[in-house]
Amino acid sequence: MRRLYAWLFALTVALGCQAGALAQPAAAASAAQGLVGQYSQEGADTCLGCHDDETAGYSGSAIFKTPHGQRGNQHAPFGAGGLQCEACHGPGAAHAINKKPASINTFERHSTFTLQQRNDTCMACHNGMARTGWHAGAHERGNLACTDCHKIHRERDAVLTKAGEADVCLSCHKGQRADFHKTSTHPVRQGLMSCSGCHSAHGSSAPAMLVKPTLNQTCTSCHADKRGPLLWEHAPVAEDCSLCHIAHGSVRPALLTKSPPLLCQQCHSPANHPSVARTGAGLPGNGGMGSIFLVGSSCINCHSQVHGSNHPSGAKLMR
Ligand code: HEC
Ligand code: HEC
Ligand code: HEC
Ligand code: HEC
Ligand code: HEC
Ligand code: HEC
Ligand code: HEC
Ligand code: HEC
Ligand code: HEC
Ligand code: HEC
Repeated sequence: MRRLYAWLFALTVALGCQAGALAQPAAAASAAQGLVGQYSQEGADTCLGCHDDETAGYSGSAIFKTPHGQRGNQHAPFGAGGLQCEACHGPGAAHAINKKPASINTFERHSTFTLQQRNDTCMACHNGMARTGWHAGAHERGNLACTDCHKIHRERDAVLTKAGEADVCLSCHKGQRADFHKTSTHPVRQGLMSCSGCHSAHGSSAPAMLVKPTLNQTCTSCHADKRGPLLWEHAPVAEDCSLCHIAHGSVRPALLTKSPPLLCQQCHSPANHPSVARTGAGLPGNGGMGSIFLVGSSCINCHSQVHGSNHPSGAKLMR
């Protein structure tokens, strides 16, 4: 294994020389900070001399199968002119001699590097679009590290897969785990969608870090058929899906907050319902309503177009 690395890095160095003109932004920056002498002489070879598959409890080679290991990408740690292992772990010359974890960035919580320093290491390269919401987002405020979710030395970073993401999120959000085991849920546990279908883990300006500016825009980004404008709108639908639905999970069908008719009667009084077939009209306790409400048949048996209608005569949401 060692020999393979030696060969790979000989190649890296060779490419680095050829592509010398591609500049060495990181090295230049560190020269300005007077750090050059603090980096190990031979880059990754120095580190792998002690941290390879055989001697370390992790798969040293896995990183070379990830985007960070790309040699053709000059922005990646192992690209031409990159600082390789030290792009993330920081200057390691001293550590390579004293072998103390304290003299290198281990990314662990008890590391001598502050949370800010650890996250800044990643942000130095990843300050782009998707993380513009990070600062002031709930996860930064909650003192999360990038590495609470991301695993760098794994061939496949679990949080980036639909099947693995929820496990990472639910390891902290235990209350939500129960929601996703209710009878009606979004198919997250089944691996068909992920938390990040609705949430931006890196933060957003929307409430609850939703992916779109409002809750309704988030929902209709997938449920486009529920997006207006419709000929006959049902006011609460255009206003807020969560008046009737709980996004994570419900013990009632269709993620409903309550079952009809109760759901509907939060806003609609049974009194003065137009005269339709009412066999039990006037019975005590039913507000003058007919048997439709007594036998428990639901409002949506008749008002089936509860999300609104585009039918010319759909005014009462019946078709
Ligand atoms: C001379 C051997 C040697 C060299 C060279 C070396 N290390 Fe280490 N490193 C060690 C030892 C020994 C430990 C402590 C392991 C322990 O305490 O379990 C360690 C710990 C670490 C840790 C923390 C791991 C842990 O379990 O706490 C990291 C990260 C690390 N080294 C990265 C590097 C990097 C990056 C380089 C190259 C710049 C490097 N090392 C070079 C020997 C070395
Ligand atoms: C893109 C950033 C990055 C690069 C490049 C990188 N590492 Fe790491 N390394 C990390 C992070 C983050 C951790 C903490 C655990 C994790 O996320 O997988 C870590 C953990 C380690 C550990 C401790 C593993 C353990 O099980 O405790 C060692 C040793 C290590 N890295 C060595 C290296 C060596 C050697 C290289 C170069 C071949 C390297 N790293 C390149 C980010 C990086
Ligand atoms: C020297 C610059 C650099 C540093 C430092 C760095 N990265 Fe990266 N990272 C990259 C590049 C380049 C890519 C590949 C992007 C691409 O191909 O679009 C990447 C890709 C990623 C990806 C996507 C991986 C995938 O499988 O698609 C994640 C997640 C990531 N980095 C997280 C981190 C974290 C967390 C840290 C800090 C521990 C970190 N990076 C440090 C340059 C860096
Ligand atoms: C709460 C968990 C979590 C934290 C903390 C986190 N990420 Fe991510 N990250 C994700 C998830 C989930 C994805 C995939 C979905 C997506 O792109 O939104 C992702 C994707 C990425 C990607 C690849 C896609 C892209 O946007 O380029 C990069 C790079 C990345 N994260 C970097 C970081 C950095 C840097 C930090 C720290 C500032 C960080 N992440 C903190 C969960 C997290
Ligand atoms: C290491 C623990 C941890 C992990 C892993 C984690 N979170 Fe969080 N999350 C937190 C903390 C801490 C807060 C802030 C809690 C607070 O302010 O009450 C938070 C807040 C949130 C919020 C509420 C935001 C708000 O504005 O109210 C959402 C949504 C969220 N996380 C989603 C996710 C998703 C999605 C994932 C996986 C990609 C994830 N979390 C992974 C710890 C974590
Ligand atoms: C279908 C969209 C959707 C999915 C998928 C989703 N959420 Fe949410 N989540 C929401 C909405 C909407 C809210 C805001 C609820 C409110 O305030 O009315 C929310 C709120 C939250 C909150 C803030 C606390 C709370 O309950 O109000 C956390 C934490 C959270 N979600 C975590 C997660 C995690 C973890 C996953 C994946 C296992 C996940 N969510 C999947 C839509 C979703
Ligand atoms: C990332 C895409 C996505 C987003 C965003 C999304 N959903 Fe869904 N929704 C789905 C999928 C996939 C299903 C399952 C469809 C199926 O089983 O046929 C579903 C199913 C549903 C169901 C039917 C559940 C059942 O048990 O019959 C309701 C109700 C629902 N979503 C409401 C919402 C609401 C409210 C929001 C916004 C908070 C939302 N959805 C956001 C993808 C999404
Ligand atoms: C006034 C209450 C109410 C509001 C507000 C509401 N829904 Fe519904 N929704 C229902 C009811 C009731 C059902 C069950 C219908 C059935 O069983 O036929 C349902 C079913 C669904 C379903 C599954 C069946 C289908 O028609 O695809 C989805 C998806 C859905 N709603 C999405 C949404 C979205 C997205 C919003 C916001 C734009 C929303 N709902 C707002 C009451 C509502
Ligand atoms: C959050 C409050 C709310 C809930 C819950 C609600 N509605 Fe409505 N509904 C309204 C409002 C507001 C209007 C518009 C009334 C108006 O324009 O005078 C309306 C209009 C209607 C209309 C058309 C009335 C007309 O004159 O055009 C029907 C039919 C209707 N709702 C049925 C239902 C049914 C069935 C349910 C349960 C699945 C339900 N509503 C749940 C608030 C609600
Ligand atoms: C047996 C069929 C049936 C059932 C069940 C039913 N409705 Fe109706 N509803 C009607 C008819 C028919 C109209 C009048 C339509 C018209 O005027 O064109 C109506 C009208 C309405 C209106 C409009 C009132 C108005 O003044 O124009 C509302 C609101 C309404 N229903 C709500 C409900 C609610 C809430 C439930 C359940 C508690 C329910 N309906 C159950 C058939 C039904």
